[in-house]
Amino acid sequence: MTEDKIYVTQPLLPELKDLNRYIQEIWGSKWLTNMGKMHNEFEHRLKDVLKVSNVSLFNNGTIALLTAIKALNLPYGSEVITTPFTFAATPHCITWNGLKPVFCDIEPDTMTIDANKIENLITPNTSLILGVHVYGFPCDVKKIDEIAKKYNLKVIYDAAHAFSTEIDGVGIGNFGDITMFSFHATKLFNSVEGGCLTYKNLDLVKKIYNLRNFGIQSEELVEDVGINGKMNEIQAAIGLLNLDLFRKEQEKREHIKSFYNAKLSEIKGIRLLKMPNNTTDSYQYYPIVIEDDYPISRDKLYEKFRDKNIMVRKYFYPACTDYECYKHDLAVKLADLKTVNACKQKVLCLPFYGALTDENLNSICKVICDV
Ligand SMILES: Cc1ncc(COP(=O)(O)O)c(C=O)c1O
Repeated sequence: MTEDKIYVTQPLLPELKDLNRYIQEIWGSKWLTNMGKMHNEFEHRLKDVLKVSNVSLFNNGTIALLTAIKALNLPYGSEVITTPFTFAATPHCITWNGLKPVFCDIEPDTMTIDANKIENLITPNTSLILGVHVYGFPCDVKKIDEIAKKYNLKVIYDAAHAFSTEIDGVGIGNFGDITMFSFHATKLFNSVEGGCLTYKNLDLVKKIYNLRNFGIQSEELVEDVGINGKMNEIQAAIGLLNLDLFRKEQEKREHIKSFYNAKLSEIKGIRLLKMPNNTTDSYQYYPIVIEDDYPISRDKLYEKFRDKNIMVRKYFYPACTDYECYKHDLAVKLADLKTVNACKQKVLCLPFYGALTDENLNSICKVICDV
């Protein structure tokens, strides 16, 4: 039994003395939020890191995604084709916008939305495809783009797990109409809470700016039904400091990934997921698949980890289609979600953060090997 709990992740934290310098500056300026100096610098630097032309910062990824959907002015009640193999925020943002999530099956190798099954779900009411780059694996952005063009649909990507990922050298935030990134404390890159939207269309700059700030255009003009999505200066300061640290953290996680790969790749019944060759890993998660020929089930293995204080996670079990708020919908009951329903029973995310020692990694691998 490990004395202290080993969690699935640990937040990247800047040195307190560095943060203090930023806090002193913020205190001196007496400007705590509302697009301050730190906010604007952070937004500017993110453009380079993400290799995108426009970035809008938000106080968290959920409000960012909510605003992204709102900014596209989709017909009220229209349908959005999305994946149920994701965090609750993805379908909830659709529903909060008064739209209807239509759940599509996933692809077994990357666990992202199965682009070959999207067309079957399109109806005259479909307005948007919302893909999730789950675990940092990219959706089939080329195929989704083709479908969107053919049926005149908008595309949003939830890239909460794919910070700094590139496909053939192109920042992942360049695909679709809008992409959302989350900077939550559990993410590879964090600003405690936070997130951003990236997009190419210049018309969206003003629209998103206003929606993020209650729809206020000027002191006497409120044009849109906006929300408070503004990132404050302290969040932005932590984001700025972590921008200098996240590459180093990725290098450490690369080592951990190699360690796990070496120890686990030969174990019968354990399937490792492989990032496509043209895609860089964000190193957000280390998921494994417990196949039927492994001696015990995923849930039994999960218990063995928990008995040893190793807090592995069953991301994404339950699937969103199992939630009380979605499962009673007739379309959900009838949906073909074979791969989702198989994967959700088999996946396990192992602890994955730079501070894990080789001793920690050995004890984690031992749990799997001993079985
Ligand atoms: C896939 C996915 N989408 C959206 C979110 C929401 O982001 P936030 O926590 O920043 O609101 C998260 C996680 O937190 C996530 O994992």
